Amino acid sequence: MIVTIDGPAGAGKSSVARQLANVLGFQFLDTGAMYRCVVLAALDAGIDLTDQVAMADIASEMKFSTDGDQISLNGQDVTAAIRTQEVTTSIHYAADNPQIRNILVRLQQDFASDVDVVTEGRDQGTVAFPNAECKIFLTASPVERARRRQEQLRQQGEQVELEVILQSQQTRDEQDEARELGGLHAAVDAVHVVTDGMKQFEVVEHLERLVRIRNGDADG
Ligand code: DC
Repeated sequence: MIVTIDGPAGAGKSSVARQLANVLGFQFLDTGAMYRCVVLAALDAGIDLTDQVAMADIASEMKFSTDGDQISLNGQDVTAAIRTQEVTTSIHYAADNPQIRNILVRLQQDFASDVDVVTEGRDQGTVAFPNAECKIFLTASPVERARRRQEQLRQQGEQVELEVILQSQQTRDEQDEARELGGLHAAVDAVHVVTDGMKQFEVVEHLERLVRIRNGDADG
């Protein structure tokens, strides 16, 4: 069974998708990590990020693997390295490149070819898995998403004004929504879940119920 979770940055997709995969006993695929790996590999190789052909070569040659929590790139643990601000602000060089999108979507489809999976990103229900059995579009209001991000940063010892987070969040939303191929849109058959005011475990429980109903489980 394939469960797709798409939505904007900061909606809590990663944590929720990871926990949902755990309770269901499914594999978890963080597709944002794949785009991040392309950018990290390009930065490490000193490649001009605006060179679309060289960037696509990086994507087709990179060895990406994941065991859920841990991300490996060419045999190295890059779980933390792909989350730096430098990678995040350069992500559009990978995400806006149609050739890279095709390469990564194929990798995602290969990953899910013979396992049950919860996959998380922007285009999972629309482009990568249009026939997925259960599609979820997870959102929260901009202020709620920015507050959560602010709290995350606070826990990492960083104090950032809400207004600053809101601004960069809006920029990333606009980039994600405007992307011609694989842009951020809900699939027509996706269930919309707005998580304002919900605790993380409540979101996971809610999604688990949705999946079990879709899967036809007797106790769904
Ligand atoms: O989920 P994230 O913030 O780690 O994703 C990083 C970027 O990758 C995000 O800004 C958009 C892009 N992305 C994408 O274009 N398609 C996906 N399926 C996943 C992520």
